[in-house]
Amino acid sequence: MASSGVKIKYWDYLSEYAAHRDDYLRAVDDVFSSGRLILGQQVAAFEESFAAYCGVSSVVGVNSCTDALFLALKALDIGTGDEVITVSNTAVPTVAAIRATGATPAFVDVEEDTFLMDVSLLDGAVSRRTRCILPVHLFGQMVDMLPLLEYANRLGISIVEDCAQACGATYNGNRAGSLGDIGAFSFYPTKVLGTFGDGGAVTTSRPELARRLKRLRMYGMESTYYAEEEGYNSRLDEVQAAILNVKLPGLDAAITRRQRIADIYNADLSGIDGLSLPVGRAGRSHQQYLYTVRTERRDNLMNYLAGQGIESKINYPDPIHLMRGYRFLGYAPGSLPVTERLAGTILSLPMYPELPDEQAAEVVAAIRRFFT
Ligand SMILES: Cc1ncc(COP(=O)(O)O)c(C=O)c1O
Repeated sequence: MASSGVKIKYWDYLSEYAAHRDDYLRAVDDVFSSGRLILGQQVAAFEESFAAYCGVSSVVGVNSCTDALFLALKALDIGTGDEVITVSNTAVPTVAAIRATGATPAFVDVEEDTFLMDVSLLDGAVSRRTRCILPVHLFGQMVDMLPLLEYANRLGISIVEDCAQACGATYNGNRAGSLGDIGAFSFYPTKVLGTFGDGGAVTTSRPELARRLKRLRMYGMESTYYAEEEGYNSRLDEVQAAILNVKLPGLDAAITRRQRIADIYNADLSGIDGLSLPVGRAGRSHQQYLYTVRTERRDNLMNYLAGQGIESKINYPDPIHLMRGYRFLGYAPGSLPVTERLAGTILSLPMYPELPDEQAAEVVAAIRRFFT
């Protein structure tokens, strides 16, 4: 592989920062000058506007999506001895959060074309110990929530949505995080709504869960120096909330721009023998957090693109159930065939709102050259 330096980045925030630098620095200065540095007016304002955006009655700002998932499960009293059904085709923190409660993840396989939880397989994974289903809205598209909701409701099982990658995505007009008992969001810098550090939130329309989540993020306290229960320190930082308050009004425009880049990829990469493009299902908006193609020649394609100065990434190269850290769960190679096949064939192309059309066109041209 002859690397000629990176010409087209997979993700980059610097041009976005340059364009809005004054707004961000003013927001940070507002916090520093406010006299209230923890859980102040920026967090409160963000919680209110993000709740309106997601179509839920409450948002609780926390430290990360890993914590959001953990606290969501804790708020539902899920812990040791319980099972949570999820996918292995996700980021490690989904599973880490389940394990942090003491519960055990039970994996179902995914659909090959959408990469998402195959809800037709839920019945094979459910057991007497199943307390929760944790769908992961991967790459920007929501899981098939209608049959999942019907199934969970019939069995009296809770739903926690992992919305880390799907902020703003919709299913039959309902936003991610508004259909389950609780939704968990990440504001990690690369995310569709990303800040300049760590951040996360939980969404819910159940007031008793919102109240519990608020105290779980704050040492278990509802009033100063008195713990109602064992809790944690997981607060959305006031500075990060101030950044999010600047960014949230531009979220839909950023998603539209991602969709425009996806349109370029979709139109100009279609019809290539040996390359499969990501599939969006009817009734679901795809906000294109990642644009992920599939090919049996993935490693060669990735090397070729690198040689042309184009970054790409594999999300994810190893299914979690086969990682050393999770072998104790007892899943053998071959137990989740679609997930395992995807790990060897998927490749995510450059995708972020500031990626110029011309660079997207260069990516397309390089891929076309590779396949001719
Ligand atoms: C699907 C998914 N879940 C959870 C997380 C954890 O998010 P955070 O980094 O905010 O803890 C991530 C982020 O990588 C993710 O992609």
